[in-house]
Amino acid sequence: MTSTIVITGGGRGIGAELAKHYKQAGWTVFVTARDPSRVVSPADRVLALDVRDADSVASLVGALDGVSIDILWNNAGVYLDKGVSLAELTPEVWAETLLINSIMPVKIAQALLPNVAASEKKALAFTTSRMGSIASLKSAGSYAYRSSKTALNMAVAILTNEAAEFGVSTALFHPGWVRTDMGGPIADIDVATSAGGMKAVMGAHTIARSGAYYNYDGSVIPW
Ligand SMILES: NC(=O)c1ccc[n+]([C@@H]2O[C@H](COP(=O)([O-])OP(=O)(O)OC[C@H]3O[C@@H](n4cnc5c(N)ncnc54)[C@H](OP(=O)(O)O)[C@@H]3O)[C@@H](O)[C@H]2O)c1
Repeated sequence: MTSTIVITGGGRGIGAELAKHYKQAGWTVFVTARDPSRVVSPADRVLALDVRDADSVASLVGALDGVSIDILWNNAGVYLDKGVSLAELTPEVWAETLLINSIMPVKIAQALLPNVAASEKKALAFTTSRMGSIASLKSAGSYAYRSSKTALNMAVAILTNEAAEFGVSTALFHPGWVRTDMGGPIADIDVATSAGGMKAVMGAHTIARSGAYYNYDGSVIPW
């Protein structure tokens, strides 16, 4: 039986490249996008998902009813306050960032935990960022984005304990600074280096390392 991966935000950027790599490796691949009709993807299915919308999340969970998910990869994310000062940042934008980047990835993981627990690999992966690492903080700015990824890291750390009861592991990934719509054209690495690296790390990931905060190359990032 082939393994199955579900990737949120898999219609473009890092998520789309992850989908390509898993498809090439023979996996059954489901990706989500807000508007599936705009996505050209090698995935087996493109499912509609706007993580801000509870009905949309419920529809996704319904569409995946009975599907064993070896890896659920919560990758969708936003950087709404790129270049925005704290004075300019509105509470609404900060709250929306927390909803998309911190709260809903964990809620989606919780809702699909039975699907993951029913699989062989039993893994929850999350695309976070090194920008969520308090230990690595060296500059100012990006209050909403940075704090949203720190919050995601903590929520996944808590979820790690809960998921363990079902034999499910978790992994947090900094994908590198990647040339995508979000990362911009002068970022360090291309999507293939990022996705290929993370897929290799995920291939060696076991429950013994559950909760790890990995860089895309497998090195560990301090909290
Ligand atoms: N690029 C980097 O350098 C970098 C560095 C560190 C971490 N990351 C993280 O890596 C992940 C992917 O980033 P990327 O660089 O590939 O960014 P991207 O090219 O801007 O793509 C963002 C993805 O998130 C999805 N998304 C955004 N808002 C959504 C919503 N409300 N509901 C559902 N999906 C939504 C988008 O889906 P649609 O197609 O529907 O818009 C798209 O697939 C993010 O979590 C990001 O924080 C990126």
